Amino acid sequence: MTPDIKPFVAGNWKMNGERDQLDQIALTARGVDEELAAKTGVCLCPPATLLYVATTLSEDTSLMVGAQDCHPEKEGAHTGDVSAEMIADCFATHCIVGHSERRTDHGETDETVLRKTLACHRAGLTAIVCIGETEAEYDAGEAEAVLARQLTHGVPESTNEHNTIIAYEPVWAIGTGKTPSPDDIATIHAFIRERLAERLGGPGERMRILYGGSVKPGNAAELLSVNNVDGALVGGASLKAEDFLAICETYRGV
Ligand code: 13P
Repeated sequence: MTPDIKPFVAGNWKMNGERDQLDQIALTARGVDEELAAKTGVCLCPPATLLYVATTLSEDTSLMVGAQDCHPEKEGAHTGDVSAEMIADCFATHCIVGHSERRTDHGETDETVLRKTLACHRAGLTAIVCIGETEAEYDAGEAEAVLARQLTHGVPESTNEHNTIIAYEPVWAIGTGKTPSPDDIATIHAFIRERLAERLGGPGERMRILYGGSVKPGNAAELLSVNNVDGALVGGASLKAEDFLAICETYRGV
């Protein structure tokens, strides 16, 4: 945690979830009572097909809803894409950009991530910008250099603590059950904090830096208590309301 920063827990459903899983969104919304919402922001990012119904289900609750990606442009001839404005039009408030699965599957570069982050800001969405090194980069001792590059080229100057959240997700920890040690996470998050503060000043000091990669109910308390870890980006464990809420509950007593 970081003093004076309200944590944020986001669930990334990835390409999972059909109508028969909508009850998990409703259950999650019900579980985020006012007391919990006062301690931490909670956001679910279902696939685009469920976005509008998700915001309808979470209306009048404290659960926030986000998308998983957006196109850099507002509208136009981009078959299959969804703009940040369309996401905002569904009443969603957040959008993940630069997830490593998009960098790998769709060849997204830091330049693409920058444009998408700007698109989120243009549409009034909070961007959840993902950064993280691959296993090969980690083994080669290049993690910090990779993160510095992703932050410098993928995060625009207009970034602040209101319009952007950073999510550190080591690629080798995603869906693998492996996580860095709390000490390693502390070192990396401190490094990210320094880069943000150096580049953006006060807003960089106040921005939330989430950890993502195999966060589960069983390890959440340990991972989320690390210095400069201001919440989590949760994949697999966000699909079940019970598990996702158990992770969010880590913050209730804090
Ligand atoms: P897992 O929690 O399934 O490892 O996924 C992490 C992730 O990629 C969230 O964006």
